[in-house]
Amino acid sequence: MRFDVFTIFPGIFDGFLTESIIKRAREQGLINVSLHDIRDWTTDRHRSVDDYPYGGGAGMVMMAPPVVEAVEACIPERDDDTEIIILSASGVRFQQSIAQELSHKSRIGLICGRYEGIDQRVADILGAREVSIGDYVLTGGELPAAVIIDAVARLVPGVIQEDSTTDESHAAGLLEYPQYTRPFEYRGLTPPEVLLSGHHANVEKWRREQALQRTRDRRPDLLESQNEDAGHGHTENSRKPNRQSGDGIG
Ligand SMILES: C[S@@+](CC[C@H](N)C(=O)[O-])C[C@H]1O[C@@H](n2cnc3c(N)ncnc32)[C@H](O)[C@@H]1O
Repeated sequence: MRFDVFTIFPGIFDGFLTESIIKRAREQGLINVSLHDIRDWTTDRHRSVDDYPYGGGAGMVMMAPPVVEAVEACIPERDDDTEIIILSASGVRFQQSIAQELSHKSRIGLICGRYEGIDQRVADILGAREVSIGDYVLTGGELPAAVIIDAVARLVPGVIQEDSTTDESHAAGLLEYPQYTRPFEYRGLTPPEVLLSGHHANVEKWRREQALQRTRDRRPDLLESQNEDAGHGHTENSRKPNRQSGDGIG
């Protein structure tokens, strides 16, 4: 899987690419991330990438020529296996299903906007998809590009243990159930008894109920598309860790 990032601030990616799972995936050759400085495709001595918006208004807009020419030079072959994405607050909302779809591509170009955004002709000429990582506005597309690389890379076979990507939030349209680890007791709180029972069917049932309840409480919109019984009789308290005294695991 190859990512090509087009940005005027390549340094923003330094830490992200050189730590933890992304660093290891790069070292193992499972993913490749190339950073391209859009200013290298400018033609004036100031290396300008922006200009005033037609029609007036606040701020500046990134010009089409350096961006288009950078992408065309770095990704000359753009077939079905390639996706070009423009990071944009007005794009379609990024979600796990898009990450899954992108993980089947062999090459992804990510264009990071700055200023008030990018001349619309970049998307039109390159056939790019405009993607937003959420309903808020950031100063640039670099963090959104890193978010997409991270979400897609961990779905590439070998990057992380495969179980971790099938049994997690959003993989099946639900949020993940609560997780617990040692110490057994911390500040009077202990894990729910069922998790210590060794009874796999009961553990699975409990996790399923918790996932449904959590999704219903926090993201009811996710359940709208599902024809699931969200379970009965589980209150917010029933999902909290047990107190050592009273309703503890006994
Ligand atoms: C200050 S923003 C431009 C906002 C734009 N004027 C608007 O109202 O949608 C500059 C750049 O940050 C990036 N950006 C900001 N918020 C984003 C988001 N939620 N998702 C993806 N990219 C975003 C885009 O690349 C954008 O071109």
